[in-house]
Amino acid sequence: MGSSAGSHTTSKNHMNQPAGMTNNKKKTKPRETRTMAAKNYLVLLVLLLTDLVRSSDSFERHRLLENGLGRTPPMGWNSWNYFHCGINEEIIRATTDAIVSTGLRDVGYEYVNIDDCWAELSRDNEGNLQARNSTFPSGIKALADYVHSKNLKFGIYSDAGYLTCQEQPGSLNHEDQDAKTFAAWGVDYLKYDNCHTDGSSPRIRYPIMRDALSAAGRPIFFSMCEWGQEDPATWASSVGNSWRTTGDIENKWESMISIADKNNAWAEHAAPGGWNDPDMLEIGNGGMSFQESRTHFSLWALMKAPLIIGCDVRNTVAQDLAILMNKEVIQINQDALGVQGRKVAGDGEQEVWGGPLSNGRFALLMLNRGSDPADITAEFAALGIPSNVSVMIRDVWKHQDLPGTGTYNSSITSRVESHDVAMYILTPV
Ligand code: GAL
Repeated sequence: MGSSAGSHTTSKNHMNQPAGMTNNKKKTKPRETRTMAAKNYLVLLVLLLTDLVRSSDSFERHRLLENGLGRTPPMGWNSWNYFHCGINEEIIRATTDAIVSTGLRDVGYEYVNIDDCWAELSRDNEGNLQARNSTFPSGIKALADYVHSKNLKFGIYSDAGYLTCQEQPGSLNHEDQDAKTFAAWGVDYLKYDNCHTDGSSPRIRYPIMRDALSAAGRPIFFSMCEWGQEDPATWASSVGNSWRTTGDIENKWESMISIADKNNAWAEHAAPGGWNDPDMLEIGNGGMSFQESRTHFSLWALMKAPLIIGCDVRNTVAQDLAILMNKEVIQINQDALGVQGRKVAGDGEQEVWGGPLSNGRFALLMLNRGSDPADITAEFAALGIPSNVSVMIRDVWKHQDLPGTGTYNSSITSRVESHDVAMYILTPV
């Protein structure tokens, strides 16, 4: 507000100035006057430009869901990929403990999310959702309290239809009531699925829950799961904090890599507050090799995807944990600039992906889809790095700077194993 008061005064001066110049030629020193006028014009120009930037900024913000959440992609765990419907409160508590004891919490994983199958198959007499008594006898509020007591956040699941995919009650036509229930329970994240609907567009049904959540009085990350059916990347930034861009991931290379390709197509639509979601991680579930698992993690990190672990973290082997806990790769995902990296070059089986990071840096990923090791060359120009700029290169999987730091100025070639990646951060010097 201080600056707008300033702008008012300055504009007034500016308006008076030309008249003064014309009428008082003899009284004022022309050079000084011209300098003053030029200064005032400059100030006005700066202010106009500032306002322009501000109004385009607020236009941008208006298009975004304004709940302040998801400024970087969410990180956490979800029960579905490993447990499916076999969840209960002991498993969720033990998982919460494991997220702390493994150190996952300390590298940024914060949401503990239960998926489908947590509720009774009918609502109570007042129409409220209720925890399934056989598996969650202490109730959801107690579970959320437990998760919060470990300095973690709690997420739940519902559906924009009459029933969820596993046929517990959905939230269609109960949005306000369910949003209030979730807020009262201490829910921090809602995954909202798309089964058993009334046939209307997600564009109609999802905003109703968005509004119900925002009226419920608790910030709740809104994770839309309409499987990319109506190209949500093009419209959902004003509705959700993330939106699935694909169908369900399966625990194998072919599924993971095809989902990465589909998600890549929507790169330009991701931004702080709203992210493309290519589904949860399968790392730790045994369907992919070490190389494939780190490719999965690297691509999801580069694409600014939600990093939602989908394995049994109580029993995850050290090698998989090490992938999930690679802080340098996580930093790429959580970078403040929030620009989704994308495929920038490729000739069939060997590809180069990348994108800008904060402070003028770049993330670079070389992907070998082939069945033999290959040398892959990344031209820096493909990332938008000017040809006269030298860069320092940091290998985020080897955790070391490449030899000859500062001398790379147009490209780098690396040997990449089958179904593997090399991943770097490039810092201009
Ligand atoms: C699917 C969803 C999965 C999981 C499942 C539960 O629609 O894509 O991630 O939530 O429903 O039934």
